[in-house]
Amino acid sequence: MKALTVQPLHEGSARLDDVAEPPESDGPVLVETLAVGVCGTDAEILSGKYGWAPPGRDRLILGHESLGRVAAAPEGGDLAVGDLVVGIVRRPDPVPCPNCAVGEWDFCRNGQYTERGIKQHDGYCSERYRITPDFVVKVDQSLGTLGVLLEPTSVVAKAWEQVERIGGRAHFEPHSAVVTGAGPIGLLAALIGVQRGLDVHVIDRVTSGLKPDLVKEVGATYHTGAISEAVSAPDVVIECTGVGSLVFDAMEHIGPGGVVCLTGVSSGGRSLGVDAGTLNRTMVLENEAVVGSVNANRRHYEAAATALAGADRDWLEQVVSRRVPLENWQAALERKPDDVKVVIEVGS
Ligand code: BGC
Repeated sequence: MKALTVQPLHEGSARLDDVAEPPESDGPVLVETLAVGVCGTDAEILSGKYGWAPPGRDRLILGHESLGRVAAAPEGGDLAVGDLVVGIVRRPDPVPCPNCAVGEWDFCRNGQYTERGIKQHDGYCSERYRITPDFVVKVDQSLGTLGVLLEPTSVVAKAWEQVERIGGRAHFEPHSAVVTGAGPIGLLAALIGVQRGLDVHVIDRVTSGLKPDLVKEVGATYHTGAISEAVSAPDVVIECTGVGSLVFDAMEHIGPGGVVCLTGVSSGGRSLGVDAGTLNRTMVLENEAVVGSVNANRRHYEAAATALAGADRDWLEQVVSRRVPLENWQAALERKPDDVKVVIEVGS
């Protein structure tokens, strides 16, 4: 079968390969892949900066944002042939650590987790894959291939859960939220904020095109300047860029008792001048919290499935701004100015 593979830590090593059928050891559920989304993590892997091949191998099948159709499933289970499904990305570490032992692999403590398409476990950008039922999430059939947005939505569903749990240490009734970055993660974070009834402000650099329109259409307000120019003392900031200056802008301007959730993975090597004393003083005196958030467990995928099922289909259609057939995979990996979420169509 065809699969998009890469040699991790080798820039420009991606190619469309003929690979063996998925091993039975990956699980009894056989899935025909329909679509795979491309994200910033894939770009990092393709540029040779991130990623791990499975043990004893040089190459990794890419792809962690997926949508597929069940082709075979064990009798008597929850899954039936034809179901539209998404594969969970992370697998618990083998020890397992206390968090992985209770299904909270997104909080793995020892770093020995694996991730499909990213870390030591083949991804989903192949014509077929196998998986165990406990790592399969069903999506609303009416979403069709828009179900490919489930994995990125799970990441922000987790971020919102962190915000609410931390906010819940005292009375917490947030009214305003800032989302930095109007890429897919930022837009999906804004969607959930609006669904929660918050006054959501999204900040990005571009002044025209699809992103400002998508922010308006989801029911949020679009800005291009600093956080303080967008809204005064927001209750929540979901930082989706990983840009150091925005991270500190968020910490400086979060409102009293507010929560900043960092979801963007930045590259190192950039220093900033920060008035650490003033920042510390304000954060202490106003009980502010900053939390990092990565990945998602099953609960977050399920929350994401609910968020997507309740989203406007036309809006989601526009978030998937470009679809590229697997044969033209190179075109999917090139960034174009108006790209939001680019999806590789693996099957039909
Ligand atoms: C994925 C997460 C993953 C993270 C780090 C993100 O792009 O969505 O599932 O944990 O990269 O590898």
